[in-house]
Amino acid sequence: MKTRIVRSGSPAETRAIARRLAQRLDAGAVVALFGPLGAGKTEFVRGAALGLGVSDVVRSPGYTLINEYRGRVPVFHVDFYRIRSESQMATLGLEEYLERGGVLFIEWAERGEGILPESAIRVRFSPGERENERIIEIAPDPWAEGE
Ligand SMILES: Nc1ncnc2c1ncn2[C@@H]1O[C@H](COP(=O)(O)OP(=O)(O)OP(=O)(O)O)[C@@H](O)[C@H]1O
Ligand SMILES: [Mg+2]
Repeated sequence: MKTRIVRSGSPAETRAIARRLAQRLDAGAVVALFGPLGAGKTEFVRGAALGLGVSDVVRSPGYTLINEYRGRVPVFHVDFYRIRSESQMATLGLEEYLERGGVLFIEWAERGEGILPESAIRVRFSPGERENERIIEIAPDPWAEGE
């Protein structure tokens, strides 16, 4: 499996990368986002949602735990930061959302590694050398040919 490594120099660039990735997503896709507080996970979901045709403003999921947006496919956004255990995650019924032909974004995926489908696209953020720089590793590489 190939990993694509991209460097982002600004929040807008992170959104643009995500927007391009979104064009490659099929219904039922799960995008798992890893990285610390302020890494850029929500910025990434904003860009991806735009790429999926969502016109609403994307905000971090709050008490509802899962946000839903209407795009060319339904877009679901969950943040595992607020969820205490993998058994609580299991009660969210994420499969049922996917069965509706949507795309699911999961922030703080490290907290729920055990329930991620094998097919999930894993996006890992790490800080770059400069303040607004982020290194973003995407696996499998959504832009790889013939895979
Ligand atoms: N290259 C970059 N990509 C994304 N965000 C950046 C970048 N450079 C600076 N930032 C800033 O970093 C912050 C990222 O916030 P964001 O809410 O996306 O992080 P997060 O990973 O979702 O954090 P949390 O774990 O709290 O949910 C924003 O304030 C954004 O302006
Ligand atoms: Mg966030």
